[in-house]
Amino acid sequence: MDKKLVEEWLPLSEINLHAAVEISFRIARNKYRSQFLDLYGTNPSVFNVGTPQPNNLHPWFARRPIALSRILNLAAVLPCNIDKDTFRRIVGFNYISNLATQKILPILLNVDPERGLLNDVFKKYEKNSSEITIVDPMAGGGSIPLEALRLGFRTVAMEYNPVAYLILKATLEYPAKYGVKLYEEVRAEAERLICWARGELGKYYPEDAMNYVIARGYRCRSCGGLIPIIHTTRLGKNGPYIKFSFDKDRKSFMVDISNVETEFERLRCPYCRSPVVKDIALREWVSRHKRLLRVALNGDFKSAKESVEELNQTHILLVKQTGRGFKATGKEDVEKFTEAYLDLARLSGELKEYIPSDPIARRENEVFKPITDLEVEYWYELFNPRQLLILSELIKYVRVRAEELIKEKGEFGATIALYLSFGVNKLANFNNITTTWDDSTKTIRELLDHYARTRKIGFGLEYCEAKRIDQALNWVFEPDVEEPTKTHGGICPVVKYLCSWLDGLGDRVRVFMADAMVLSKVLGGKSVDVINVDPPYFDQHTYSDISEFFWQILRITLSPAIDVGYLFSRGESSRAELFVSGWSPILSTVPRDNEVIERKTVKVSVKGRSALEILERMKTPHSRDWYVKNMWIFFREVYKSLKDDGVLIVWFTHSDPEAWEGILSALYASGFIITKVWTIRTEMAERRVALAGSAFFSSLAIVARKAGERVVVGTRSIRDLSMNEDVKQAIMSSAVDALQSAIESGASEHEKYIMALAGAIAGATRIWNPSIEAVSVKRGVRPIDEFARTESLDVEDVYRFVVMLQFFRESLYPVALYHGVSRILEGTLKEAFTKAGVEKTLAENMVNDILLVDNDSKAFLLLWMSTRFSEESTVEYDFGEKICKVIGTSLDRLKNLGLLETKGGTTRKIIYGREAVDLIKRRVEILDKTVSGMALRLTKILADTPAVEETSRAAERVKTLFPFSRQVVAVALFLLLTAREDELEPFGITRLNKPFIENVLKLLYGR
Ligand SMILES: C[S@@+](CC[C@H](N)C(=O)[O-])C[C@H]1O[C@@H](n2cnc3c(N)ncnc32)[C@H](O)[C@@H]1O
Repeated sequence: MDKKLVEEWLPLSEINLHAAVEISFRIARNKYRSQFLDLYGTNPSVFNVGTPQPNNLHPWFARRPIALSRILNLAAVLPCNIDKDTFRRIVGFNYISNLATQKILPILLNVDPERGLLNDVFKKYEKNSSEITIVDPMAGGGSIPLEALRLGFRTVAMEYNPVAYLILKATLEYPAKYGVKLYEEVRAEAERLICWARGELGKYYPEDAMNYVIARGYRCRSCGGLIPIIHTTRLGKNGPYIKFSFDKDRKSFMVDISNVETEFERLRCPYCRSPVVKDIALREWVSRHKRLLRVALNGDFKSAKESVEELNQTHILLVKQTGRGFKATGKEDVEKFTEAYLDLARLSGELKEYIPSDPIARRENEVFKPITDLEVEYWYELFNPRQLLILSELIKYVRVRAEELIKEKGEFGATIALYLSFGVNKLANFNNITTTWDDSTKTIRELLDHYARTRKIGFGLEYCEAKRIDQALNWVFEPDVEEPTKTHGGICPVVKYLCSWLDGLGDRVRVFMADAMVLSKVLGGKSVDVINVDPPYFDQHTYSDISEFFWQILRITLSPAIDVGYLFSRGESSRAELFVSGWSPILSTVPRDNEVIERKTVKVSVKGRSALEILERMKTPHSRDWYVKNMWIFFREVYKSLKDDGVLIVWFTHSDPEAWEGILSALYASGFIITKVWTIRTEMAERRVALAGSAFFSSLAIVARKAGERVVVGTRSIRDLSMNEDVKQAIMSSAVDALQSAIESGASEHEKYIMALAGAIAGATRIWNPSIEAVSVKRGVRPIDEFARTESLDVEDVYRFVVMLQFFRESLYPVALYHGVSRILEGTLKEAFTKAGVEKTLAENMVNDILLVDNDSKAFLLLWMSTRFSEESTVEYDFGEKICKVIGTSLDRLKNLGLLETKGGTTRKIIYGREAVDLIKRRVEILDKTVSGMALRLTKILADTPAVEETSRAAERVKTLFPFSRQVVAVALFLLLTAREDELEPFGITRLNKPFIENVLKLLYGR
């Protein structure tokens, strides 16, 4: 089988630079200037400018960089012996310097690949690039298929989620099919919409209003005074501030803007000082807000008029941002707000069918649970009356316009309406009562920003309302922005780009709304050259729940298109697009059942690691093991769809080795062999949400094939496997690949550690035990047979799955972890001694000595090692036990030897510092049983030695106190060099005496 370029070489630092610039915030980009200069010899004329990006169309989560998508797609089809210059030219690198001199952000996103040259290359193999098929079955926002299409390949994008599916159509299919005329029509329609909104809806806002900060009004339970609930009076990082003047007698307040911060205590009554309980206050507020909306939506104008006071005491317009800074709101602001409320009541009949009036799926939608727990029941309740009036007017406009456009232009008309609907969604994201005020940036923190930070949508204390509607729509669409650098993320500039990139490629792209679990049914067997996929990462995102907010607006605005069979066609096979059974676009919920994600709220009672226990857990939808099972089913489908010499690329990110075990065991059990791994930069360093608990900016791109070189073994014993040199070699080469590219990608120490481990686990997929394939499990195991039946899987396949999973989890994974951590230990040992100025041969000897310590000490050092990369001194039981098992010891034994302590149910604390000092006092004899234990004892003795003593005298004296080997000295020095200050302190080691102890240890070793 021909090796592909992606299995051998990638211009890693160059693409990582492009990816980093592409995904960074504008203001953060300048830090990449010098790297750019080094690579291209040109200082880019602009770097912190706007550039239209596909995600400006509509938000989606976990979008991947364009630059990486292009390189991986291309390198997966080109042979490994392709001339590097030709490759660079096809990618578009040669144009980057040109762009740098123009006023365009000089990154690959803004350069088209050289399709002509690519075709010339293919001609050598008597092929055309349009004969190559690249598929992304979980395409999300579409970076991977967009770049496949820009390269001219036949491209298929699939999604299970209707919002993502529509984004894919708008990103790929329509620009390719309709080209530049699509941009022209969308732009004209956006202008028309803005003009209409200015005329019809502008009246609901004062001329100068940009953004409002709105307090939730709450009556104090003790004194009855009206409290404006907000989280801070700060409007900007250094002011200005909201200045309240509270009248305690009248129980009322006035608002002003001040440059000086005045005293303010959130959640306390300003009149009687009673505390306000947030949950109670929010519940009461929701109840009044709902009542106000009900009155208006019932069309009861009289009651609405009578409710005006309540309206203004529930939604307290405090401050507005204007072109000239912040102002306290005045009479006009309140009047306009009230007018909108009364008009909502007056127009409620007309607007009825345009209001998102379906219930929020309370049980299923976990992201919105904090809100439904406060008794918010329907989607429309997420808007204040003016926001709701504007939103339903816009929905009405787009829906009516969609009908007209469809009548006039057929499917093309539906397409134009799709972009208009996206605009309404972008507006709704900023205009709802889940927003809050971000005083650090003086902007509104939108719904999605809250989701990005906490993965939940709740209420803050205050909320905001965004901009006068015409200004807001101008920002959403930017129909007037001609120069790409002038964009602030509007829809029209990106449609323009997409249309120019993809014009004429309409016959090469298909988009399906389909469950990736039935991939081969949609695509057929052995038909695909490359599957490039970036699957969900366990519980990283709950795509369905958060997207449901946006789906409400899309389904109403687009119903004329959906009703006539556009957008979600089930029609005859050549046109069929919708392959999700049991779901229809008339539903207000999005499909969830087969969304391959783990939900942390799902609890499974069965514990344990036996095959049957794992199988049992797999039955519980959205449990961690269910996710693994579904990834296995997915990879099997990939296997069926790929040509025999096809390439699979899987992007995956996680900071927990167990997650890697999960995904890689699924890949292993489906028969794939990993041929190469790359660490690539996929997340912005400024990102505010940490992935799985710790900051993580890199992903592994795993390259896999149906067949390849394997290391054949005849054993399942962990000990035998760990000592097999070929096994070690397979695991280590993959770990080194991942580590090497992590270093090139500028990964953090923690990331390097995890990536090296992930690489090691990936390497384990190259190891094969033929007896496993012979399905050695006894037949007739009832739970397995039942499982196969209920999951509609082939019994034989399930048996094979179980044994392979078991072999991978119980044997290969621990061995991979062991070799991975050992590799890192070796590297860290060398680095620590070199940094400490130990002479080269002496350092080598120390390393060798340490690597030959007794098994218990080795296990201790490996676990110690892993805690150097996290912020804690503890390891998870499972992780620690696996490493111990490979070496032939156990965590219990290490505990008995005084090398670790139990800390909570599943964690173990590595002994150093306080615990070691205690132990030395109480039971020093157990420490003498291991090299590591003796090293602790030696450290304590040296810590107690006055640092004024001459080094050689101290060394001599210590030697008389108890017998210890050079190994003990080397370990003590290593621990000392890699310990954190808080770990050293209990020994009595400070910055002052640490150099002395270091010197004595070096001397002791040298002698
Ligand atoms: C990590 S995201 C992909 C992001 C994408 N690469 C991008 O650049 O925007 C994973 C996607 O898998 C989709 N997904 C989850 N379960 C699926 C299934 N059963 N079939 C197809 N897609 C699925 C999710 O909706 C989500 O958009």
